[in-house]
Amino acid sequence: MSGGDADQHATTKIVSRRACALILTKTLTNRRPCVTMIFETVDPHDIADALDILLLPLLCLMRGLNRAPMTVGEKLGSVIHKRRSIRRYQLAQIGHAVIERLLRAAAQAPSAHNRQPWRFVVLDDIAAKKTLATAMGQRLRMDRTADGDDPKSIEADVSRSYSRITEAPVVILVCMDSRDMDEYRDERRRQAEYLMAVQSTAMATQNLLLAAEQEGLGACVMCAPLFCPEVVAEASQLPTGWKAQMLVTVGQPDNTGKHRPRRPLSDIIIWPAKNQAAS
Ligand SMILES: Cc1cc2nc3c(=O)[nH]c(=O)nc-3n(C[C@H](O)[C@H](O)[C@H](O)COP(=O)(O)O)c2cc1C
Repeated sequence: MSGGDADQHATTKIVSRRACALILTKTLTNRRPCVTMIFETVDPHDIADALDILLLPLLCLMRGLNRAPMTVGEKLGSVIHKRRSIRRYQLAQIGHAVIERLLRAAAQAPSAHNRQPWRFVVLDDIAAKKTLATAMGQRLRMDRTADGDDPKSIEADVSRSYSRITEAPVVILVCMDSRDMDEYRDERRRQAEYLMAVQSTAMATQNLLLAAEQEGLGACVMCAPLFCPEVVAEASQLPTGWKAQMLVTVGQPDNTGKHRPRRPLSDIIIWPAKNQAAS
């Protein structure tokens, strides 16, 4: 599918969600629902997706009328689909108990050989956030100056990065300690083992993001530490062996975030048996 087609499809999905709301409104007011609109606009490969779009609000409505609480599965679906990257926060601080709940969820992730290579540094005091943001900003400035970029654009970038870190109520520095992973003599298997530690740490981070959504908090990943791990290690005085992977900013959301469309399933899945059965 070309980029243009992908955009068209993304619009289609948004239209479908709107159509869904329209169906509900029309059904409730006893007017004729425009169901065909949904089926006209959804890619046939995405029929399961379309059913989700149709059924989820209806299910929520029925549950609301019955006053029955959502099941765990419905809650999880809602958390997964509602989560968005939130980059601006209200000033309110986040309690330690909440942060611990987020980190407990992170640490519940699966990991290769159950070695749990994830490590976390919680930065919730302004001095620590400023030290880290300043050090990372200096490295960003050096790197982009060496690239020959426009000084004004560099300063804007440095300033944006500084504000993002210092204005978030909590910044969680996600690190990885791969020293407990298996050791190999050859580079091929060493690299695979290293990647397994990275994958495990990323899974923990996704749990953290979902737990934040579940708590009604906003969160966003910042990948900048990966570009300057030694700078981060020094600024945040990381223990030996902890390698900075990313930052997760967390706070009460100040906006609803931006809708970022996803590629249609038909673009990202190969399902040979299903295609054979259909032909
Ligand atoms: C590994 C990783 C690194 C990211 N780095 C950044 C970043 O440096 N700055 C930023 O604003 N967002 C960053 N993001 C957030 C993505 O931009 C965001 O997840 C994506 O645009 C989809 O939007 P959504 O999270 O709202 O669904 C990162 C996400 C991931 C998974």
